[in-house]
Amino acid sequence: ISLKPYNTFGIDVNARQFVAVNTIQDLKFIYSNYKNTNKFILGGGSNMLLTKPVDALVIQLNLKGKSIINTSENHVLIECQAGENWHEFVLWTLKQDFGGLENLSLIPGNVGTSPIQNIGAYGVELKDYFYSCNALNLDTLQIETFSKADCDFGYRHSIFKQEAKGKYIITSVVFKLSIKNHTLHTNYGAITNELEAMNVKQPTIQDISNAVIAIRESKLPNPKIIGNSGSFFKNPVISKSQFLQLQDNFKDVPHYIVSENEIKVPAGWLIETAGFKGKTFGNYGVHKKQALVLVNYNDAKGEDILNLSKLIQNTIYRIFNISIEAEVNIF
Ligand code: EPU
Repeated sequence: ISLKPYNTFGIDVNARQFVAVNTIQDLKFIYSNYKNTNKFILGGGSNMLLTKPVDALVIQLNLKGKSIINTSENHVLIECQAGENWHEFVLWTLKQDFGGLENLSLIPGNVGTSPIQNIGAYGVELKDYFYSCNALNLDTLQIETFSKADCDFGYRHSIFKQEAKGKYIITSVVFKLSIKNHTLHTNYGAITNELEAMNVKQPTIQDISNAVIAIRESKLPNPKIIGNSGSFFKNPVISKSQFLQLQDNFKDVPHYIVSENEIKVPAGWLIETAGFKGKTFGNYGVHKKQALVLVNYNDAKGEDILNLSKLIQNTIYRIFNISIEAEVNIF
């Protein structure tokens, strides 16, 4: 079976076997009865680049449903199953007037994979509204609960990328959202400008979601039309002394201060300055409006996109002496 419909990059590679799983019982059944079969877990397929056929049993996690598990004076705890689409879930929370996830509107992928890389955008990260998650331990086949502290969240990082990698499958995520006096995150420049353009003076959480959707639609390619996995690279963090050298040569380099001695530089700026923005190589290339996004225009090979990413990494290193790391998972 071709995995093309199951990865937002739209890479056409085959899986040896494929199964869609609708219940935790079925998932346990597969893990207890097919111990010696290589397995490959598929969520929304929005953060991966497939470079060769997947010689494994691909398991599509289709666990669905959401429920309110606790309500207090100001907050609600909502459990959402892993196979729910992230953006549809965000829209549902906003419809109930539950606040927190509005800045994370329109991020591709599923709820179950959102904690793995601690998705983030426009001044908010998943960890800010994450309460806990449940995950199947693939050794014991028991469900375990991870608190926020257990997850060790950082910028595009969690325990599921490190010690827990390959050992668990996240089956549901619990979010703690506000039911009144919502905290609005409107500091991000692009949001302020968009709200102004929308002529909104006192934004609601729905307004912020609409602004984020408008910004994303203007910069990021819709994976249903042009294959992509969002940001291909992480924004690198460099030392202050290295940053000062960089600033000597490039006066306008955008940056965010991470700590006293650490500065984050947008990889999109480095890639654009290196001359890659909008470059096309036949059927793949670098997105016109956001250089951090690599795109598959039409049936590109994963390997070609991988080679382009390496060319970009090497060029950036040569020009700026900065290493940029892939954000997507490469298989
Ligand atoms: N920039 C350029 N050229 C470009 C792209 C960006 O010069 O082609 C400059 C912009 O002018 C701006 C700065 O880089 O000064 C930051 O750009 P932007 O606000 O677009 O954000 P980003 O750092 O490129 C990150 C996330 C995105 C997220 C946005 C908004 C990472 C790896 N990416 O991008 O996340 O939507 O911020 O918060 O942190 C994703 O992870 O898939 C993703 C899309």
